[in-house]
Amino acid sequence: MGSAPHLRAVLALVALLAWPAAGGAQDAAGGAAGAGAGAGAGPESEDSVRRGAYLTAAAGCAGCHSDPKRKDQPFAGGAALRTPIGDFYAPNITPDPDYGIGGWSDAEFLAALKQGRAPDGGHYYPAFPYTSYAGMSDRDARDIKAYLATLAPLTRPNREPEISFPFNFRFLLGAWKALFFEPQPFAVEPARGTDWNRGAYLVRHLGHCGECHTARNLFGARDAARELAGTLNGPDGKKVPNITPHPENGLGAWRASDATYYLETGFLPDGDFAGGAMVEVIESSTSQLTDADRASIWVYLLSLPPAPGP
Ligand code: HEC
Ligand code: HEC
Repeated sequence: MGSAPHLRAVLALVALLAWPAAGGAQDAAGGAAGAGAGAGAGPESEDSVRRGAYLTAAAGCAGCHSDPKRKDQPFAGGAALRTPIGDFYAPNITPDPDYGIGGWSDAEFLAALKQGRAPDGGHYYPAFPYTSYAGMSDRDARDIKAYLATLAPLTRPNREPEISFPFNFRFLLGAWKALFFEPQPFAVEPARGTDWNRGAYLVRHLGHCGECHTARNLFGARDAARELAGTLNGPDGKKVPNITPHPENGLGAWRASDATYYLETGFLPDGDFAGGAMVEVIESSTSQLTDADRASIWVYLLSLPPAPGP
């Protein structure tokens, strides 16, 4: 369990470290941490970087790719992500040409983020939530890359995952993807209105809420029939709550303001505070969203079929 002052302090730090290029003209001039920011950037790419900073937060990239113990090395590689098949370490995605993704083309970046494909043609493990990011628009993905390119290049080496046999064979992921992964662009449903569509895009794709809140089958693929209805086997083997509007064990009794306040601050309607993996999500992602985006997340959640939890 975190505490509010603690969260605030971390937020301030994250804001300082992870947003070197996003703070407007005065920062761009003096920001030592934002090496490379503005190098050859025209007005168009500045817009792209600004959008990208916001989208990077909405997508929670820092939550995995930054090590909470190394506040001085944002995006240079994460702490262990524990899964039932082993431990993963999200790699360095700073623009360092050797240790990070500095040499990557837009096409390589899009293939990684939206199809789980490495530049050498290999497959990524779905611990990297490309299964959700697959629905991201190409423009949003490119803007994220544009933002990452403005970060300080850091030389932290990547750490190989520590995975148990037989899951350590990457080529098996080809079969897994063939069975469980169907990348599809986000399809706007005009009849549902702008807020719903924005919320659906944020929840399903950028915010990848289902990666934790949706139960998985034996093969680790999300069970679409139980979308966001919670699971007993979330990150670190812990329970993740049902966030459909089920009246008893979902968010049925929550008001819109409860939900948006929670996503902003971590405070639950009963005065308790968010714990577990959600703390990271609130810090690196939902607290950084605009009020309008948090409100649209709620519009979408409220529209889900109220499913009973696990
Ligand atoms: C839930 C944790 C998690 C989140 C959130 C996440 N990643 Fe990752 N990412 C990983 C892991 C784990 C890998 C390595 C997967 C593997 O080894 O197969 C990875 C790999 C990558 C790679 C490949 C890097 C390389 O050197 O091969 C890129 C690029 C990347 N992520 C970018 C992003 C971006 C951009 C975001 C936000 C939009 C993001 N990731 C969000 C966990 C995450
Ligand atoms: C990395 C895993 C993870 C991701 C991604 C995630 N959550 Fe959570 N979420 C959790 C966990 C774990 C809890 C339980 C927190 C606790 O124990 O206090 C939780 C709790 C919540 C709650 C409170 C529910 C309750 O009854 O207490 C809401 C609301 C919520 N999440 C919404 C979201 C939304 C919206 C997203 C996507 C933007 C999201 N979560 C993404 C893991 C996650």
